[in-house]
Amino acid sequence: MTETKIWRVAPHNFSIDELQEAAQLIREGKLVAFPTETVYGLGANALDVQAVQGIFRAKGRPSDNPLIVHIASLDELTPLVSDFPPMAQKMAKLFWPGPLTMILPASNQVPAEVTAGLSTVAIRMPSHPVARELIRSAQVPIAAPSANRSGKPSPTTAGHVRQDLWGRVDGLVDGGECTVGLESTVVDVTGDHPVILRPGGITREMLSIHFEGVEVDGEPSVTKAISERPSEATTEHCLLETNGEAASPDSSAPRSPGMKYAHYAPKAPVYLLTGSWKEQVQAITVLLEKETDPLGLLISAETYEHIKHLLPQECGSKYQVRLAGSREDLRSVAYRLFGSLRSFDETPVTAIIAESYPREGIGMALMNRLTKAAGGRIWRE
Ligand code: TXA
Ligand code: MG
Repeated sequence: MTETKIWRVAPHNFSIDELQEAAQLIREGKLVAFPTETVYGLGANALDVQAVQGIFRAKGRPSDNPLIVHIASLDELTPLVSDFPPMAQKMAKLFWPGPLTMILPASNQVPAEVTAGLSTVAIRMPSHPVARELIRSAQVPIAAPSANRSGKPSPTTAGHVRQDLWGRVDGLVDGGECTVGLESTVVDVTGDHPVILRPGGITREMLSIHFEGVEVDGEPSVTKAISERPSEATTEHCLLETNGEAASPDSSAPRSPGMKYAHYAPKAPVYLLTGSWKEQVQAITVLLEKETDPLGLLISAETYEHIKHLLPQECGSKYQVRLAGSREDLRSVAYRLFGSLRSFDETPVTAIIAESYPREGIGMALMNRLTKAAGGRIWRE
């Protein structure tokens, strides 16, 4: 057990001094979790092989899943990459700092432990003031995956990080809630066109305004990693909780190595509702009339309005309802998704039924995470 130090900082009103100890720990090769605008990251000096190995141990992460290197300014990029093509420069101008990760050709300075032996490296310049100051003060690029145990929903509060990594990391900077709530968009910019390997905070539509031929890995036919997979594709999520190891990769071969592993899974199995909104409301109505086991419902405010009269009034009812946000504002749903999924772990529910949303804008990232959380399971009456 490692002693985990914790520092609370107000994200828009802190002094550089408040991050000195955390930055010093990073410089010394220690592990420090910190907030970004997307999710909390588990940081270590990206150029220190042992420190990077510590990240994989603390998370229980398979070593073939490469890490994102976080920088605070473009000067820090030069030593990390062997090329910074014009398309990538334009993207940096438009979307950095922010929730965008670019896949670039790696220089020989980047340890193979970071890239998992690939010839490319993932780089991101976060916009969160605490993340930026921590990187600046540490004076080294920071490798940071999401600060969850492998397989669990990514952490959007310091409390989530504590649940997963207390005693496994040297420090935790608590900077409050993450505002985006889903991880960054990962874009491969090494080819002729940008290819989205993982949808995220910067949407396909936002990229397409500026770039031609934006592709999404997995759509329509490259791999099934991002598009909805058939049910029972991965059924062993609970293994993650019991033995702390990632489930076996499925057979599809996505270009972003991390996308092949089970992800975002609460303890109870998640089932996704499908069809139009009306059909989904109807499915919940039928379910509430029949179902007897303790159930979790992850639904929009609009759906709740339609079904609330069916919910038992007594407290301690067998239904646990989490309001995901509004269908009119999918960013509000994205923001609450991981916290809502985690919150079911403290309840006796045996299954979680989750509403689906249109795959437009942030909806694409949202549905990508929900489909992964469900391991492809679809609710069928
Ligand atoms: O928002 C985020 O991106 C957060 C915060 C902390 O910055 N980080 C994050 O890291 O989500 P992680 O490790 O959970 O996800 C990184 C993703 C994985 O899917 C990984 O496979 C992919 O990026 N990746 C990393 N390096 C890559 C590379 N060289 N080529 C392709 N994919 C890569
Ligand atoms: Mg992650």
